[in-house]
Amino acid sequence: MDGIEIVDLKKSYPLENGVLTVFSGLNLSLRSGAITVVLGKSGCGKTTLLRLVGGLEVPDAGEIRFHDARKTAFVFQEPRLMPWLNVRDNIQFGLRRGEIDPDMTRRIIATVGLTGFETALPSQLSGGMRQRVALARALVCRPSFIMMDEPFAALDHFTRESMQNELLRVREATDASILFVTHSIDEALTLADRIVLLAGGACAASFEIDMPHPRDLTCDELIRTRRDIMAALSAPN
Ligand SMILES: Nc1ncnc2c1ncn2[C@@H]1O[C@H](COP(=O)(O)OP(=O)(O)O)[C@@H](O)[C@H]1O
Ligand SMILES: [Mg+2]
Repeated sequence: MDGIEIVDLKKSYPLENGVLTVFSGLNLSLRSGAITVVLGKSGCGKTTLLRLVGGLEVPDAGEIRFHDARKTAFVFQEPRLMPWLNVRDNIQFGLRRGEIDPDMTRRIIATVGLTGFETALPSQLSGGMRQRVALARALVCRPSFIMMDEPFAALDHFTRESMQNELLRVREATDASILFVTHSIDEALTLADRIVLLAGGACAASFEIDMPHPRDLTCDELIRTRRDIMAALSAPN
């Protein structure tokens, strides 16, 4: 067994007049080296799941088993850069002095297409470029597992498309497993090796997508998968 196994995960939050159950018994396994996309409506618990897996939140019950090394990195919806630090310093921000490897930083900056912008400040970058910095900051600590919470949701269509391609290229350059959260069916179909639908506090369905990239979303197989996803998401839960 490799990857990460989530077993019978339960999580609820106290409310003013009762409790809100987010997960009532979630089971999910994440394959090593794969892009697993968790897809679900707003409020279904996607961010909570990432926070639990990342150890930022404690489950009420259940278990998260890491079978590989558990060096994790997060990429959030907003880039969360330090405005007073340039691109290179933002990327190296989480590293201790002895961990900084200028060659590796240079390679990662090239991987995310920011060569030439090393000394630019966040205010001098476009939204897409800022998100590339956030991606590079995640990669530079050589994670075995990257969690991404709707990282491209705030970007315009074209920038989003280019970031998705960027991510797929990055994936070739690292053997990290990626847990990617989105509410966009197209984004899930574009990126995923496996799509997991989150609904009603559990994993409602999952779809393996064994297709090379770039993918044509209008091909028969993906149109069928899209239809199945829509049906599963509109089912009462
Ligand atoms: N710290 C918290 N306290 C109370 N309720 C929360 C907290 N965090 C999230 N929730 C609630 O849990 C549900 C799932 O939230 P979230 O995981 O952010 O959903 P998603 O990311 O899928 O939009 C929402 O109803 C949200 O209001
Ligand atoms: Mg969220």
